[in-house]
Amino acid sequence: MKIKENYSLQELNTFKIDVKSKYFIEIENESDLKEIVKEYKSKGEKILLLGGGSNILFTKDFDGLVVHLITKGIDIVSQDDDSVLIDCKAGEEWDEVVQFAVNNEYYGIENLSLIPGTIGAAPIQNIGAYGAELKDVFYSLDGFYTADLVEKSFSLGESEFGYRDSIFKSELKDKFIITSVKLRLSKEKNFKLNYRDLADLNKLRKNITIKKVRDHIIKVRESKLPNPKVIGNAGSFYKNPEISAKQLTNLIDQNPDLPYFKSPDRKIKLPAGWLIEQCGWKGKREGDVASYHRQALIIINYGNATSQSILNFTQEIKDSVISKFGIELETEVNFY
Ligand code: FAD
Ligand code: EPU
Repeated sequence: MKIKENYSLQELNTFKIDVKSKYFIEIENESDLKEIVKEYKSKGEKILLLGGGSNILFTKDFDGLVVHLITKGIDIVSQDDDSVLIDCKAGEEWDEVVQFAVNNEYYGIENLSLIPGTIGAAPIQNIGAYGAELKDVFYSLDGFYTADLVEKSFSLGESEFGYRDSIFKSELKDKFIITSVKLRLSKEKNFKLNYRDLADLNKLRKNITIKKVRDHIIKVRESKLPNPKVIGNAGSFYKNPEISAKQLTNLIDQNPDLPYFKSPDRKIKLPAGWLIEQCGWKGKREGDVASYHRQALIIINYGNATSQSILNFTQEIKDSVISKFGIELETEVNFY
């Protein structure tokens, strides 16, 4: 195990922010992980667990140890005629897990194709896209508390999943390290094709295959989301706000073409991208920061944006949405 000091994190966060960590280590196995956490905790150092760095905005240098987790492995734990239970090491790339499922015709995560990052981070904000969420296939996860290294498994119920939320993003933020995640995938075809962008797939009817769903999702995503390998970004900067029925009625009076969606739990969600676009931000650039011209909710770094310039820009967006619609946007990205 080799600790590096004063280490640049620019290539390890998809926003491409140029910050350094006091200490840095890459970890390939779980026993090293525990050892290093124990050692640096006892020295009183802060610890940040880093996966793919695709949902982070570094606002300053990290004064502690950054652990880059790259443990790999996807194993089948059990299966029957209907389903399969897989166990994945936390450092495994999320999209590798989706590719594995699609290759084997295990259904349930094909709509989550091409989401960047690791499977260890997927439960943190209960990743979601195109009508599917991690919690729909989640079985359990294993990990340990950083304070005392005590191991614990979390079931679906204990994980308190919500829209872009879980116990790991709230109460246990930076206090619990996820080392592996179990998913239960179906062997029976059961596609979710109600999302607007999937209308073309529905036309294929009986000819739909899991591979066609994955390919279509990838095509849609590539048409509107910037590739983080080319343009710095961390996906949606804000969450889509949830409002009450009364608020909706008032807003529709003022904005008859307001788009809104009712989620299965009957909450009303507004697309933050629409609110931001209506305030005139879509495609707008200040220095090297911009709202992406194809998806206003994605904030991009053209190259040399500082975290301060991103914070100023996104605060201006937030202020204008409050003043036009009376809605306060909540950030989705994790700040450090
Ligand atoms: P990181 O950014 O490395 O970490 C995020 C947080 O999780 C940090 O607080 C970190 O400390 C913590 N963490 C990471 N791993 C662990 C672990 N093993 N144990 C404990 N804590 C951990 N998200 C969606 O939900 N849906 C989308 O459609 C989507 N599209 C995106 C598109 C683009 C272009 C980009 C750049 C991002 C997108 N995201 C999306 C956001 C991001 O991909 C997800 O949040 C992803 O799960 C982050 O994974 P990561 O490994 O990069 O996490
Ligand atoms: N819209 C606009 N202008 C824009 C962008 C969006 O008017 O510039 C409106 C349109 O009405 C569109 C609607 O917003 O129909 C929804 O847009 P889109 O389908 O692109 O999805 P989103 O709500 O903006 C969410 C997730 C994405 C996820 C997509 C697909 C959040 C915060 N974001 O975005 O997740 O990929 O749905 O399911 O919930 C992420 O979390 O980082 C992320 C990219």
